[in-house]
Amino acid sequence: MKPRASGFAFRVLAQDGNARRSVLTTPHGEVDLPTFMPVGTQGSVKTLTPDEVSQTGARIVLGNTYHLWMRPGPETVAELGGLHGFSRWPHAMLTDSGGFQAFSLSSLTKLTEDGFTFRSHLDGKKGHLTPEEAVRIQGLIGADIQMQLDVCPPGDSPRSVVEEAVARTTRWAKRALAAPRPEGQALFGIVQGSCFADLRKAHADQLAALDPGFDGLALGGFSVGEPIPRMHETLAEVAWYLDPERPRYLMGVGTPLDLLVGIEHGVDMFDCVLPTRNARNGQALTRFGRLIIKNARYAKDPSPIDPECGCSGCRAGFSRAYLRHLYMCGEILALRVLTLHNLHYYGQLVAGARQAIETGTYAAFKKRSIEAMEAGA
Ligand code: GUN
Ligand code: ZN
Repeated sequence: MKPRASGFAFRVLAQDGNARRSVLTTPHGEVDLPTFMPVGTQGSVKTLTPDEVSQTGARIVLGNTYHLWMRPGPETVAELGGLHGFSRWPHAMLTDSGGFQAFSLSSLTKLTEDGFTFRSHLDGKKGHLTPEEAVRIQGLIGADIQMQLDVCPPGDSPRSVVEEAVARTTRWAKRALAAPRPEGQALFGIVQGSCFADLRKAHADQLAALDPGFDGLALGGFSVGEPIPRMHETLAEVAWYLDPERPRYLMGVGTPLDLLVGIEHGVDMFDCVLPTRNARNGQALTRFGRLIIKNARYAKDPSPIDPECGCSGCRAGFSRAYLRHLYMCGEILALRVLTLHNLHYYGQLVAGARQAIETGTYAAFKKRSIEAMEAGA
């Protein structure tokens, strides 16, 4: 493969079926894959300090171009050291390109061949996002990995709409690759195609053939309203098909089960708001399923969320009863501890997957993990 931004490397260390154990080298350190990226939309993983985030095992986080563009503005971020210097996160970072967020958050978003036109969800000001502008803004934000601007059709779109989204995303891929980009920043392409496996494979071929090429390939357009079994079936058909010499990133997914299925079929990277958002809604995610902390059954429960969990909250011995009390009172500590716990659980899940792949036991690991989740607490 030709491209590769400077300071980047990707090595597959072991393969077990289609599951891969690999390492992504970035200018901000090595990332063991498969991995989960906590979401730091506004430049912070909500409620946690960078040190706390890294204690959960995370070595790469995601930021959002759209939000940082609207506030405080990419020039301000650049002036203050880029997102690494501004937020004090020392490890790797990736930014999404903004179109997906503009479409879901702002009003009157219009999609043309040139890009997205929208009104800011904050002050109604008009914005225009093109493939070139997305690269320029992400250049100022300064994450290690940029994403191309793409078109993500709703999960129930007819084939003709999906075909047009795929074709436009390829045209935008070429424009993104041709745009000036700071050295030391990688750029990933995004494969669309909804649940039409043939469209996704054709799109993966188109993007992989571009030269100079992308440093990684993502699967977008999942978890956008399609039934979960359909998503899993489509992943089985297409994830392994993406160029094996580049990291594969499944965007905006998912649940612990989605991660286990994605990894089985060859996905290397994931991001999702689920562990952090659900924490703030009072949900602890554990090896044995979900625990709703406000449930009356925990009112006098002296045990930690998971006695075997190594997160700082469980190790401190905070009981379910105490966390329930804090949550009912609206205390911030409950949200912090649940966030720490959930991200630690996701970190352990991908670490367990990595180890299982290394020892050629991934299928058994997946089966055991799913059985424990389904058995419940
Ligand atoms: N996040 C979740 N899905 C998508 C997608 O399809 N495109 C982009 N850019 N971001 C996403
Ligand atoms: Zn814990």
